Amino acid sequence: MALFGKKKGLVGLDIGSSAIKAVELKSGGKGGAEWQLVNIGVESLPPEAIVDGAIMDSGAVIDAIQRVFSANKIKTGDVGTSVSGNAVIVKKISLPQMSPEELAESIHWEAEQYIPFDIQDVAIDYEVIEGSGAGGNMDVLLVAVKKDKVADYTSAISQAGKSCAIVDVDVFSLQNCYEVNYGVDPGRVVGLLNVGASIMNINILKGSTSIFNRDIAVGGNQYTDAIQKDLNLSFDQAEALKKGGRVEGASPESLHPILQAVSENIALEIQKTFDFFKATSSEDRIDRIFLSGGTSKVHGLRDLLADRFDAGVEILNPFNSITYNPRDFDPDFIAEIGPSAAIAVGLACRKVGDR
Ligand SMILES: Nc1ncnc2c1ncn2[C@@H]1O[C@H](COP(=O)(O)OP(=O)(O)OP(=O)(O)O)[C@@H](O)[C@H]1O
Ligand SMILES: [Mg+2]
Repeated sequence: MALFGKKKGLVGLDIGSSAIKAVELKSGGKGGAEWQLVNIGVESLPPEAIVDGAIMDSGAVIDAIQRVFSANKIKTGDVGTSVSGNAVIVKKISLPQMSPEELAESIHWEAEQYIPFDIQDVAIDYEVIEGSGAGGNMDVLLVAVKKDKVADYTSAISQAGKSCAIVDVDVFSLQNCYEVNYGVDPGRVVGLLNVGASIMNINILKGSTSIFNRDIAVGGNQYTDAIQKDLNLSFDQAEALKKGGRVEGASPESLHPILQAVSENIALEIQKTFDFFKATSSEDRIDRIFLSGGTSKVHGLRDLLADRFDAGVEILNPFNSITYNPRDFDPDFIAEIGPSAAIAVGLACRKVGDR
């Protein structure tokens, strides 16, 4: 309970497989902005620390969490984090109209038939979709996350000396980031794509409602793998080359077709998902696509997607409506890390006690 009705702020901590991102905001910025940046930091992780969304080397993760706090002098110890991938199930289910109390009582039983895991093994959360449902029914957004996954992430956080106040789901943190920065347009259908190192989060919104979401195991690692194999380089060399750096013996001309082929593959995955969405939803269009995640910076990816899809493709700027003091933060640095900070920014806008 908050004594003065003021909820405590928290640090948005996105534990990605390639890097940990931390963002701290405070409410109220210049020119009536809702949020202002207090702190931001990134610490990279060795590629084998988190594999397929599972923490394999907890020591490396704990170290990186501690480093991101100490290197950026972050004092706040409460954090919000999020999980994604195949340990997360999000489903819209239709239930008969019932009171919140009845729903709270029956949700576990109802959930059982929709969750492909043992109900004992998952943590469940849900939200009634306002104004939804037909014929005496109501739509409920059901979210189930494997408990052991949550435990792995929260225990790394507590072993790093921080306290985990919120565990969210990547697609919803991404949505929160989008809404804070771009607002909500009730009629507009927006596709949010966050392409990280190993996972692509997809969330299709209509107004403020997530009408379709999915995580797909594709991302920046596929570019790096392909470069490594085709050009016979180490992981670090391939990463550097992918990011536009120079590597002895590798020409930019040899890089281009490799990037192109992987981007084609990612576009195909997106196409399949959009086709499925259109076939199963009452919406048949997507008005605009917002691209984020570190992989949004791969040369040519945005252009290729813009070419494939009718909806315009825009790079999501997590600091579109969040102000910062350019004396404290170098605008070039903010622009550089922006794309990979979307999830952490979405988390940082939550308050302790939110659900
Ligand atoms: N300038 C760049 N050009 C190309 N790729 C880049 C660039 N900067 C970062 N990346 C890639 O972006 C990816 C990291 O993005 P991000 O931080 O969003 O992922 P993550 O959250 O660590 O991973 P995941 O969520 O998939 O576990 C890496 O694959 C990295 O190589
Ligand atoms: Mg990520």
